[in-house]
Amino acid sequence: MLSPKLHAAINEQINAELWSAYLYLSMSLDAENKGLKGVANWFYVQWLEEQDHARILMNYLSSRDCKVELKPIAEVRTQWNSVLEMYQETLKHERVVTGLINNLAAIAMEDRDFASSNMLVWFVNEQVEEEESARDMIFAVESVEGDKYGMYQLDKELAARTYTQASPLAASAE
Ligand code: FEO
Repeated sequence: MLSPKLHAAINEQINAELWSAYLYLSMSLDAENKGLKGVANWFYVQWLEEQDHARILMNYLSSRDCKVELKPIAEVRTQWNSVLEMYQETLKHERVVTGLINNLAAIAMEDRDFASSNMLVWFVNEQVEEEESARDMIFAVESVEGDKYGMYQLDKELAARTYTQASPLAASAE
């Protein structure tokens, strides 16, 4: 069992991961609506990855004999002014998530809950990647600003992004 504080915080994190999934699905649909199929694909992969993050935490709570409590998922924005704005919001949001993950890691440390600390290492590392990939995308989109053909080429590149199941889930399926 986990401490009540950590149990509640992980349940809140499950909600935050599902909200992230919903946000990126919304960005994907908006990009699709703007005719940017590659950007839509990039955010669609993001929506799948966020669901993995929620799933990992659900599996973890169950494995520690703790109940998963699903809460309502808050509404998300449905329209953005530009692709650049989508990625800027992505970076801002991922920085918030990094703070939440760090908070979970701090509670696990206070609790001397080494299994939880160990599980959270994956999320700490994932957040470094999440922020880096959002920054890379901001740089890529800024570098083609005002260049329609450049944006067309970038969109084609983003269409190639593929989903890979998060490693903790792949490992638990073995
Ligand atoms: Fe679940 Fe994008 O962090």
